[in-house]
Amino acid sequence: MKVLVIHGPNLNLLGEREVDVYGKVTLSDINKSLQEHAKRLSIDVDNFQSNHEGEIIEKIQEARSGYKCLIINPAAFTHYSIAIRDALAVLDIPIIEVHLSNIYAREPFRHKSVVAGVATGQISGFGPDSYSLALDAAVRLLGPRA
Ligand code: DQA
Repeated sequence: MKVLVIHGPNLNLLGEREVDVYGKVTLSDINKSLQEHAKRLSIDVDNFQSNHEGEIIEKIQEARSGYKCLIINPAAFTHYSIAIRDALAVLDIPIIEVHLSNIYAREPFRHKSVVAGVATGQISGFGPDSYSLALDAAVRLLGPRA
């Protein structure tokens, strides 16, 4: 089973960005522990990060071939990108929306996710563990040998 993980804008700065909210763990730490967790679960994970909406849309479109599940933290695009929502709506694989912070416990403009309606489910507020929980959810959704 191959899973694609997409990280949206500014997540490349994890570890130095708003550490009071996101903590000191870097994106490369998250990707490393995801790879370790994926190995334990016997699945393959590809990671992608971009600060550009168009690049994220192109990557979502690539998820149509070969991937069994998409895990995406659209970051700020969560709250307003209809283009990313539309790209996700094309996919016929499970989509797991992930957030490090609990977006519902933060500023009101973060309470709305325009992508949630096309996601299979959302994991929000568990810090870096949100990603490994999403991998667990992917395996539960698809079965270990999917
Ligand atoms: C985030 C929450 C978003 O509101 C914010 O714009 C981000 C990160 C999270 O992972 O908690 O960049 O998606």
